[in-house]
Amino acid sequence: MNGRPPSASEVIMTELVLPNDTNQLGNLLGGRLMHWIDIAAALVSQRHTGKICVTASVDEISFHEPIKLGHVVHVRARITRAFRTSMEVEVIVEREDPLNGSYARTSVAYLTFVGIDQYGKPLLAPPVLPETDEEKRRYDEAAQRRDARLRERKARTTAASSNA
Ligand SMILES: CC(C)(COP(=O)(O)OP(=O)(O)OC[C@H]1O[C@@H](n2cnc3c(N)ncnc32)[C@H](O)[C@@H]1OP(=O)(O)O)[C@@H](O)C(=O)NCCC(=O)NCCS
Repeated sequence: MNGRPPSASEVIMTELVLPNDTNQLGNLLGGRLMHWIDIAAALVSQRHTGKICVTASVDEISFHEPIKLGHVVHVRARITRAFRTSMEVEVIVEREDPLNGSYARTSVAYLTFVGIDQYGKPLLAPPVLPETDEEKRRYDEAAQRRDARLRERKARTTAASSNA
């Protein structure tokens, strides 16, 4: 299975925040932003594998500052690493105020995707071939995040079954 560099599947999605995207304070709805994050990351995993991919998990997402009506949202999604069938995608969200040109990073999210066949069975993922120092750093850190994620998942499953 041929590997691919992160740059081959990168997605940059740009959205203008319109009234229907906001709450009563004129701030972007968290759910709308999570939808954009999920779509951008799903596109990355589908470009990387050439298969239909589903979201297996989304790590904690924090919103560091409000994004306002009229701001531009840049959602940049890149694959960090593929494991056996799962892949981690990093999504960085920046908001731009087009009236004064200011930028701020407002969220970073990590999502796990799995490519599946027509029966929903997980498929092997092509390896990620990091090229730059930054991509190599993200690749190494992805293994630590995956260990923590799977440990938490196991702890939750154990807690749920002992409460049943
Ligand atoms: C994700 C899914 C395909 C996994 O299938 P499965 O039969 O449980 O398969 P496995 O247990 O072998 O897991 C497959 C891979 O996913 C990973 N995985 C599964 N659940 C995970 C989770 N909650 N978080 C992180 N990774 C997860 C496993 O670690 C494994 O990775 P690896 O092959 O790289 O080692 C399946 O659970 C599914 O279809 N879930 C619903 C997806 C969906 O509908 N998403 C949208 C929800 S709104």
